[in-house]
Amino acid sequence: MTDPKRYLITSALPYANGPKHIGHLAGAYLPADIYVRYLRAKKKDVVYVCGSDEHGAAITIQAMKEKTTPKEIVDKYHAMLKSNMADLGISFDIYHRTSEILHHETAQEFFTLLNNHGDLEVKESEQFFDTEANTFLADRYIVGTCPVCSSDNAFGDQCEKCGTSLSPDELINPRSTLSGNTPVKKLTKHWYLPLNRHEDFLRKWILEDHQQDWKANVLGQCKSWLDIGLQPRAVTRDLDWGIALPADVEGGKGKVLYVWFDAPIGYISATKQWAIDNEKDWKPYWYNDDTKLVHFIGKDNIVFHAIIFPVMLKLHGNILPENVPSNEFMNLEGDKMSTSRGWSIEMDDYINDFVKKENGGDQMVDALRYYLTAIAPETKDSEFTWKGFQDSVKGELVDVFGNFVNRAFVLMHKLCKGKVPPLHSDILDEADKTLFAELTNTKVRIENLIESYKFRDALFEVIDLARKGNKYMQDKEPWIVAKQVGDNGQPTLEAQKSIDNCLHICLQLTANLAVFVNPFLPFAAKKMCHMMKVVDKILDWENAGSTKLLSVGYSLREPQLLFRKIEDTEVAEQVEKLKLKSQQIKMENEKSQSVGAASSTEAQLSNAADDKKVIAEINFDDFAKINLKVGTIVTAEKVAKADKLLKLEVDMGTEVRTIVSGIALHFSPEQLIGQQVVVVANLAPRKMRGIESNGMILLAEDKSGKLHFVSPTNVIDNGSGVS
Ligand code: 2FM
Ligand code: ZN
Repeated sequence: MTDPKRYLITSALPYANGPKHIGHLAGAYLPADIYVRYLRAKKKDVVYVCGSDEHGAAITIQAMKEKTTPKEIVDKYHAMLKSNMADLGISFDIYHRTSEILHHETAQEFFTLLNNHGDLEVKESEQFFDTEANTFLADRYIVGTCPVCSSDNAFGDQCEKCGTSLSPDELINPRSTLSGNTPVKKLTKHWYLPLNRHEDFLRKWILEDHQQDWKANVLGQCKSWLDIGLQPRAVTRDLDWGIALPADVEGGKGKVLYVWFDAPIGYISATKQWAIDNEKDWKPYWYNDDTKLVHFIGKDNIVFHAIIFPVMLKLHGNILPENVPSNEFMNLEGDKMSTSRGWSIEMDDYINDFVKKENGGDQMVDALRYYLTAIAPETKDSEFTWKGFQDSVKGELVDVFGNFVNRAFVLMHKLCKGKVPPLHSDILDEADKTLFAELTNTKVRIENLIESYKFRDALFEVIDLARKGNKYMQDKEPWIVAKQVGDNGQPTLEAQKSIDNCLHICLQLTANLAVFVNPFLPFAAKKMCHMMKVVDKILDWENAGSTKLLSVGYSLREPQLLFRKIEDTEVAEQVEKLKLKSQQIKMENEKSQSVGAASSTEAQLSNAADDKKVIAEINFDDFAKINLKVGTIVTAEKVAKADKLLKLEVDMGTEVRTIVSGIALHFSPEQLIGQQVVVVANLAPRKMRGIESNGMILLAEDKSGKLHFVSPTNVIDNGSGVS
């Protein structure tokens, strides 16, 4: 679409069922935010909507795990997601939620319109029913043996072990997760969206009209769906959590809209709420052909946004998306990112570990935004590693971008009295002219790349421009030229003119870099404006390419640090944390599975850590393998750059052992000297933060989470055995 009148940009609504990881951020949120910030800088009419997806089995299952209600779950995680996104600079115009009445009404109206037009089919079919729980079972509530890999715990929609998509009918020995019983089949009525009626339209619209502008991965998935042949899809469910069917729908009592029917309508209700809040009209954004609608999504959402929702929109009389950009997957340290397996970096954790730290702040938001964009899986899967993050931040942000800006400012203060020096056109040389020309060339390249959703390459152009600036400065060597002094000890007139030109150009380049980097790293751009003593308006895209952004004679502030290096210790700490988290979750899952085999399968859904009493039985021989001994802590000190660790020396009677213990948040080192403790003495040694730990100290945790040492009631000889 050439020159749309307005833009409506959406990011997939995340389920409010838990924290989301940085792979999600890199998939549907960060690219959209870059695109939107670019459009805003171009002064386009753009609205960016998102919100929490608060229905479906994802929510009710999490409520079971946390032994609470779905309402509590969505309230808790909606708040977390909303604040995480804001902390990471994702600049939604509205972050709505699908539990709002406005959304329920909007989704019901949508259903009614389609139903009244005869666009839905009603069919009776047999579905799994739990007679004890007296309810039909959503696919996720049925587990059984996977027909492909024989895993005992495959879900009715997917086997998490081998990844195969399943239907509940394919499971061997299906059982209900609610009661553990074998479900029965029961007749029930549902409303279906007959996608098969729209195959011709979809073929033309996707494979012909959008063959050139949609990404290959999106087109590829659509083509295989269309080649297999589309089937009617049920858009209602027999559940008690979700949006009730409109009251006047015959036979609709007790049924709700399928979450994937209501969630994308959430984009519409969010737009409505935004319009109410801002006294605007929402309708042009959803009905006028001159609106450009773009859905940024994750790879597993392609079919819903490229096939199902467009059919719904067409039937409802709305505009269709112009594009549905989706990335491939971002892996983590050699494995697939997964919150349920603990192999992930949650946004919330990153914010706590880096952004809300003394040595963190907004620059660590930009650092993450940078690396995630630089390694974005735009055409194929990519990989996040902590070492790669460290190298990229140092190699590109600190050494290239930050270094250039810093040098330009430092030299301007040193050699040009803290003011923007004049440009002497009589001595302009080829290098000067080439660099000036690069500004407009870069602008055109970045525009083309962003507008074709190639954010990774666009960001590369920004860094490359800074790299050219560094090279230019290095070649010009104004600090050497400054040594050509006259009798007064000051640089000669000629030398000063050369210095002026170099720094004038470097400062105009710096101002351009702020404009270019703004969509990607908005916090750095803002800081640069502060340093240049200019208002944020300078970041308007129309200024990109200009050689006159800073006025001659204008005095600028001292430079500030735009980015910081990531320390080796931080990398090691995060890698260790990842391993520990995944091991812990693995153990918890194994534990809950062994419990599940013995009793109700609800335990499979429950996190064993929530119920620490549930630990598999062991025999006496197992217990006898553990060598417990009494010892006394003789020294205690903090472990550098590890908030939670203390290094202890423990007198064990015949030897003094070094033990690293994660108790620093509970006890000060001074408190511990002389404390008698029980030590697991035959635990294999383990290195923590480079220190070999030889044993483990037993602690009891009370209900409030406070730790207490397990120790003899009277002081006894160190080395005494415990049995
Ligand atoms: O996959 C998911 O996380 C879904 N909650 C995405 C929904 S996108 C849209 F339809 F709202
Ligand atoms: Zn399987």
